Amino acid sequence: MIKANGKTFLLQGKNYSYAMHVLESGFLQHLYYGGKITETDLDYLIEIGDTNAPHIDMNMDMAFDRMLSEYGFYARGDYREATAVFERKDGASMSRLRYQSYRVEKGAPNVKGMPHVRQGDETLVITLKDDFSDISVDLYYTVCDNSDVLVRSSVIRNTGRESIMLKKAFSFRAQLPNGNYRMMRLAGTWGQERIPEIAPIAHGITRLQSIQGCTSHNTNCFMGILKEGCTEDSGECLGIQLIYSGSFALTAEWCKNGPLTLQGGICDTGFSWELNGGEEFVTPQVLLTYSGEGIGGMSRSIHDFLRERVINPAYVYKRRPIVVNNWEATYFDFNEEKLFPIIDEAGKLGIDTFVLDDGWFGKRDSDWSGLGDWFVNEKKLKGGLKTIIDRCKKNGLKFGLWFEPEMVNEDSDLFRTHPDWAIHKDGVEPCRSRQQLVLDFTRKDVVDNIFGVVSKVLKENEISYVKWDMNRNITEVYSAQLPAHRQGEFMHRYILGVYDLAERLTSAFPNVFFEGCAGGGGRFDAGMLYYFSQIWTSDDTDGFERTKIEWGTSVCYPLSAMSCHVSVCPNHQTQRITPFETRGNVASLGAFGYELDLSKMTEEEKALTKAQIESYKRTSELILKGDLYRLMNPLEKNYFCVMVVSKDKSEAYVVGERILGIPCDYNQYLYLCGLDENALYKIEELNITASGKALQNAGLLLPKLSDFGSWAWHLKKV
Ligand code: DGJ
Repeated sequence: MIKANGKTFLLQGKNYSYAMHVLESGFLQHLYYGGKITETDLDYLIEIGDTNAPHIDMNMDMAFDRMLSEYGFYARGDYREATAVFERKDGASMSRLRYQSYRVEKGAPNVKGMPHVRQGDETLVITLKDDFSDISVDLYYTVCDNSDVLVRSSVIRNTGRESIMLKKAFSFRAQLPNGNYRMMRLAGTWGQERIPEIAPIAHGITRLQSIQGCTSHNTNCFMGILKEGCTEDSGECLGIQLIYSGSFALTAEWCKNGPLTLQGGICDTGFSWELNGGEEFVTPQVLLTYSGEGIGGMSRSIHDFLRERVINPAYVYKRRPIVVNNWEATYFDFNEEKLFPIIDEAGKLGIDTFVLDDGWFGKRDSDWSGLGDWFVNEKKLKGGLKTIIDRCKKNGLKFGLWFEPEMVNEDSDLFRTHPDWAIHKDGVEPCRSRQQLVLDFTRKDVVDNIFGVVSKVLKENEISYVKWDMNRNITEVYSAQLPAHRQGEFMHRYILGVYDLAERLTSAFPNVFFEGCAGGGGRFDAGMLYYFSQIWTSDDTDGFERTKIEWGTSVCYPLSAMSCHVSVCPNHQTQRITPFETRGNVASLGAFGYELDLSKMTEEEKALTKAQIESYKRTSELILKGDLYRLMNPLEKNYFCVMVVSKDKSEAYVVGERILGIPCDYNQYLYLCGLDENALYKIEELNITASGKALQNAGLLLPKLSDFGSWAWHLKKV
């Protein structure tokens, strides 16, 4: 619900309110963001003047940095980080924006060329106008009555004739009053993506960012702000999350006794954008999620929101194919003789799709060559893709194929023909990460070409699944096609090129299911999820390490977005040995599959695989649609446990793992969550029937297990 009258603005979602006010001087002041309140008039919160310095009046522009504001000025009394910086022809860039007008629109804005929220109830657009330049800024607030997610973004418009250089163009500012906040971030590295970390917010600026051209393995484009006392299950917190996949920044700025300023959007390091007269610049959308039910409540709201309003509706609630992927089974070293036994076994086990990973094209015998040559390597696959696809069909399987559309090896026909298509700066030695270069996706001719060659493969073969990988970061940022003063546009233009290709391919091939990937989970974000309904979570498939990755990833992405596979032991990333059951249980918490040579499994493993597949078919609805409760955090405890409950609370699925054997640590209870207190549930595997209330309050005894032992329980209302 939006209430607006040109002076006060009140936004209300399911459980939150957000209020703003226009001061007499025209500055847009933030009044409140938190749990839902019924008052529509919060004018009593408007404090004009600072009690310690009564001569300072917030209607004047000397006290901006004390004011809770909706947009930060630059070089004009607000000493906090600016939300945007507009540099004019004469080099001046100070700004001071005042309220000009507002409008309320039905639905969510239709953003072109960038991933965005597909539906919303109402959108408030507040226009601010700069006193010193021809810039006006539209602040967008999309509200959904049944959700706790508020969608923010802004559009910066040059209403004059002379071009203006944007030096920074963040999407939003949100401010919280002075308080004792902690920040949650999802940080990591390759193989350890999105490990949650919670720390007090110190004075100064805390900045989460990527300058890598993708959202990165290191810092996800998510920031959680926890109020004092907030835990997994209770208390207030705020999630900030970009629908964006390129270089980003999210900042939290706090100065003594002052408000906490939260901002973010496209990373401003190295960024600039020429805005000619009459042009506008649209910033990526940001999801602000309020929770009064702890971090878990925030996650559940985000999951629902992404599923209902961001991820492709054609696939989001469709049972995902159970795949077997040959990467860890063969790496580059395969031919038909090696692949056929995997496919044949997959057919017997009830797997849905065989995915042929890296190495099927060009001269791709190692990572030194072939990228860019998207035609089959007939030395390896003598009968082309057709023989593999035929073999899949014979076994009742569908076929999926790996691409890395944004990349090129110097040893490739593509590079030999178009060396200028790789990102480079003449005279600067390129950085060869994984022996490959990145194609200049700021160029339309390059994107068109890749669309053509990938489309050809998809048209000529029966392919139902594409894994779109991206295995390196962007360096030597430079495009031969951009003039010198537009080089700062490179990173954003690059990701727009990626979105363009993703949009064109997914629209041209609506029956092909797309999975995202970036050297594991290096580009796992809501932007990518708009096009690709699931993403390879991490190259680390170890039965224990994955619990931490799934725990952290689930903070702001639904389980159905995470591709999770069972792999061999010793694990290729950690050398650890974990039970096959545990690897299956941990993988069953996402889009399920296998990443090993099925033909080399023991008979016992084959029997377990069949059982895992059967069990997954039963739980896949819960994984796609259910409410997630995180029960035992493997980063804090010797156990991992999460559960998913169906929306109608008739069913639940509980998966847990004991990490190491420690004497006497079994004597603990596990308290379930999210059940119907008054209903009776049967836990099949334990042969226990108890009420929801008992299972939540009295709990269950933890099972007695040795190192990395695990459980998976199915609960059904009786
Ligand atoms: C990185 C991915 O995460 C792996 O699953 C695999 O596809 C390799 N790339 C192939 O190069």
